[in-house]
Amino acid sequence: MTQKLAIAGGPQVMPPGTVKPWPPIDDSDRQMVLASLEGENHSFGPNCVAFQEEFAAWNGNKHAITTNSGTAALHMGLVAAGCGAGDEVIVPAYSWSSSATCVMQHNCIPVFVDIEFDTMNMDVDKIEAAVTPRTKAIIAVHLHGLPVNMERVMAIADKHGLTVIEDACQAHGAKFDGRKVGALGHCGAFSFNQNKCLCSGEGGMFVTDDEAMLERAKALWSFGETKAPGDSRDYHVYAMGWMYRNNDLTAAWGRAQLRKLDHHLEVQRENAACLTEHLQGVPGLILPTAPEGYEHNWYNYTIRFDMEALGHSHDARAFRDKLIRALRAEGLDTGLWQSFILPAMTVFQAKDGYGKGCPWSCPHAHPVDYSLDQFPVATKHLETHTGMTYPLRAPNGTEVAKLAAKAVAKVMSNLDQVEDIQ
Ligand SMILES: Cc1ncc(COP(=O)(O)O)c(C=O)c1O
Repeated sequence: MTQKLAIAGGPQVMPPGTVKPWPPIDDSDRQMVLASLEGENHSFGPNCVAFQEEFAAWNGNKHAITTNSGTAALHMGLVAAGCGAGDEVIVPAYSWSSSATCVMQHNCIPVFVDIEFDTMNMDVDKIEAAVTPRTKAIIAVHLHGLPVNMERVMAIADKHGLTVIEDACQAHGAKFDGRKVGALGHCGAFSFNQNKCLCSGEGGMFVTDDEAMLERAKALWSFGETKAPGDSRDYHVYAMGWMYRNNDLTAAWGRAQLRKLDHHLEVQRENAACLTEHLQGVPGLILPTAPEGYEHNWYNYTIRFDMEALGHSHDARAFRDKLIRALRAEGLDTGLWQSFILPAMTVFQAKDGYGKGCPWSCPHAHPVDYSLDQFPVATKHLETHTGMTYPLRAPNGTEVAKLAAKAVAKVMSNLDQVEDIQ
């Protein structure tokens, strides 16, 4: 049915105010945060200790350390894995920047592996070709909340003596083979920043079951000391350290949100299922999937435009941008999740992190190739995707998911108007 698109002056499917803000706040958040404020330790205080214990129990890990970001927790994973100057770490070619820059933070070298189109995750079949005698670890990113095939990643890691760091920053509560991510590799990192499934403003969590890894991570976390605040510290710096600790107010809010996390994830899953049901059969779209045995948390619902079917494989980026503009004009909060694949980013192309070409020019490093033709699938994904997060989050229910589907279907059924966008 022909309808006038909002970008051409027609009515919006999702007028302002349709999507309620994330995260939902209630009295339990207010009470926890105010109690922390009235407390006496605003640094690494009692809420930090309790948050660690409660998160470890929720996720099924022996140990958790609360951090001021997911990036900090990833960096701690590198150190926990024993990575050092010139060691190579395998990373997917499409992820958040710090899935790869955390590697350079410890003077190590990221080696990129292309992604698999269907799952958008690292192509497990391509990992072994990237392993060299210098490879120390794999960063397995559970992108957009869909787990990587951890059984296969762990088998490859065992065969080559590698450590697996799970980047679960987007994947709270996602499961592979019935087990939660972050408890499947040797250690893992979660993020609690604004749009994550557990939001405490900023913040993160490092998790592991391994005592030795825990101790190494803890040293990096708190100035290179080996004693945590609260223990009897000698303030001696034993190793390279940063200040990655969380603070009590943020941890208090994180604890309040953790109590509601299972419910929020349930709402998100229902909304994603509703979107899929209503988008099924809309021509020109490739919908996201969760293969058998994988439990998605639907942190980000990413659709791809079938540019071949739409007759736009020659100018995919330009047409993708027009489609996104038309969707946004309908009031749908959607857009590119990343504008570049990781190896295309300047820091990797220039091979200069710390100046003078370090870490790539470090005498312990070996040359690596970041030519972009090695990553055709990540490039295709980038050129054809648009993602959405907030319309799926609680407290929004399926009424919002249905409107989101309606906005997408409206745009995809009126492509002549999209073609005309200047
Ligand atoms: C996959 C992934 N890894 C790492 C991070 C870094 O987390 P943070 O922003 O808490 O440092 C993010 C999010 O920002 C992410 O999406």
